[in-house]
Amino acid sequence: MGQPPTDPRVRRRRAPEPLRRPSRLEAAPTGEEAARLAEARLAALMQGVADGVLFFDESGVLVGANAAAERLFGYARGELLGCNISIVLPGIDPSRERSEVEARRKDGARFGVEATIGEGRGGAQRQFAAVLRDFTDARAARAELQALQSELAYARRLSAMGEMTAALTHEINQPFSAVATYVRTARWLLQRKPGSRSPEIEEILDKAGAQAIRAGEIIRRLREFVTRGDSVKTVQRLSSLVDEATTLAFAGRRAEARLSVVRTDGDDFVLADRVQIQQVVVNLMRNAIEAMDGAARRELSLATSVADDCVRLDVADTGKGLDEAARLALFQPFRSSKTKGMGLGLSISRSIVEAHGGRIWAEPNSGGGAIFSFTLPKAEGRPE
Ligand SMILES: Nc1ncnc2c1ncn2[C@@H]1O[C@H](COP(=O)(O)OP(=O)(O)OP(=O)(O)O)[C@@H](O)[C@H]1O
Ligand SMILES: [Mg+2]
Repeated sequence: MGQPPTDPRVRRRRAPEPLRRPSRLEAAPTGEEAARLAEARLAALMQGVADGVLFFDESGVLVGANAAAERLFGYARGELLGCNISIVLPGIDPSRERSEVEARRKDGARFGVEATIGEGRGGAQRQFAAVLRDFTDARAARAELQALQSELAYARRLSAMGEMTAALTHEINQPFSAVATYVRTARWLLQRKPGSRSPEIEEILDKAGAQAIRAGEIIRRLREFVTRGDSVKTVQRLSSLVDEATTLAFAGRRAEARLSVVRTDGDDFVLADRVQIQQVVVNLMRNAIEAMDGAARRELSLATSVADDCVRLDVADTGKGLDEAARLALFQPFRSSKTKGMGLGLSISRSIVEAHGGRIWAEPNSGGGAIFSFTLPKAEGRPE
């Protein structure tokens, strides 16, 4: 193969000269030359950075602005020099190293910037540099991501409910058929001893009442679970959230695994969105039950505990366990080993836990199976 033909229209660029270190014998620049060099370096740096940079003196007078700052505020080249910094950053406080402040464009538009202030001393005068980053886009993107995540979580709750309908119908039917049986028995007893006030009948009617309340309670939790709402965080016990979620996740599945729950004696108060944390617990429990499908030993153990500054839940199962490849991809979306799985349960759980300032992870269970755990920061206050 020969050299590619050269196009005469293409001017060949000369290779840049290699950078040359000054030899020891060469004197380091001094005085005016050193000042000129420093200025040239500063000018190169100012024009090269993507963030806006403003220099100002002790009285707030702008003595320098790079092109990015001029663009950010909509001013022409050099137009900002000599103005007071308050025309673009009215609320800036040079004593605060890092702050989020409102900025004003020349056309009057307002937006938010993150300002980092550096201070230097040149003679008697203090000089300041403000590095400015527009966070409007980043904020909007974050808000959009949060909205999408909560939409996704809501859609998943609905689909989980769809899958659990048969089991839940059974769960709600049970107390109602108990009510029917108690009422029939009470009627039969009354027929046998008409006009009497028997403690036996009162007891049966009390039981019927309790069962009706239980059915109502299940329906209330279901309604809460499928209601779309803004995220509302309140202080509550993690163990109570776990109890409520257990009713949902274990509905109609009692025969599928033996459940044991260890509740901490400590103050397991967390600041949490009830429905969202319940969703995480339901996801982990459903995964555990599914992983134990067909296993000889099917034990699901839930345990809450309290450490220094966090509250923790462990969900341990005796299922098929986690192989190394699965472990790496567990929390990534759309990774599922199940024919009907979407692979979303764990990734949604992780985004919910992290949005609460917590952490979620998985480990092998020493006796076989897996342990999924999450922590949430301990709440300062108590339930209202
Ligand atoms: N307790 C567990 N034991 C073993 N493997 C598990 C366990 N929990 C999750 N996994 C593995 O992690 C994968 C991802 O779980 P994830 O809950 O995100 O999705 P999924 O259960 O497959 O589907 P779905 O979207 O319906 O929840 C599962 O397919 C399974 O392979
Ligand atoms: Mg799942």
